[in-house]
Amino acid sequence: MVFHKNLSELGWEKVKKRQLHRLPLVDEWIELIQMKSGYSVLDIGPGPGVFTQRYAKVVGITGKVTALEKSEEAIGYLTEELKQAESHIEIILGDAENAVVHDQGSFDIVMLTDVLHHTDSPARVLKNLYNNRHTKNARVLIAEFDPKSEGEIGPPLEKRLRENDLYDLLQHIGFTILSSGKQMFEHYYIIAIRNQRT
Ligand SMILES: C[S@@+](CC[C@H](N)C(=O)[O-])C[C@H]1O[C@@H](n2cnc3c(N)ncnc32)[C@H](O)[C@@H]1O
Repeated sequence: MVFHKNLSELGWEKVKKRQLHRLPLVDEWIELIQMKSGYSVLDIGPGPGVFTQRYAKVVGITGKVTALEKSEEAIGYLTEELKQAESHIEIILGDAENAVVHDQGSFDIVMLTDVLHHTDSPARVLKNLYNNRHTKNARVLIAEFDPKSEGEIGPPLEKRLRENDLYDLLQHIGFTILSSGKQMFEHYYIIAIRNQRT
């Protein structure tokens, strides 16, 4: 199986098909993180934006979704896709390792799904999130492909991030783990929040 760290090589139409195939997973994320109408959601690494549009439906026009994406091609694709879709989605070109994304208030939820194994440094992404005062009270949902599974779909097992390593990293940076679990499509999730005393 060929692994494309940069998904432009694979093509955004294909990435979109994969997202559509995994929609049941997203509904579970929405429930787990208790996303609600009126919330402000930061979606890091939205890719073609199928899930972003799903989040926009849940938060409604009283809420907002901010999509932070590093790939210019993905931004182009996303902008086209969103032309006839929800208007309360803001698209920002930037790298989650150093971009300072802000909201008028602060974000309620950060979605970081199937992104960390594509980044150069998961630690830098999580540290940047930790240091951003606009995400300081946000619940962060991280979802990744589990290396302890069959490897029938998704990236090769050796390219996946181990759940325990992410746990250690999050706690080392200063996050508290609120919950975690295994999911369908060879996934696990972790919900974390910045330690409130630091
Ligand atoms: C596999 S897609 C995941 C899309 C979607 N979040 C999902 O759950 O299917 C990974 C996306 O993260 C983006 N990405 C990778 N590194 C990033 C970074 N450092 N900052 C922002 N986006 C990044 C990629 O360009 C790509 O669009």
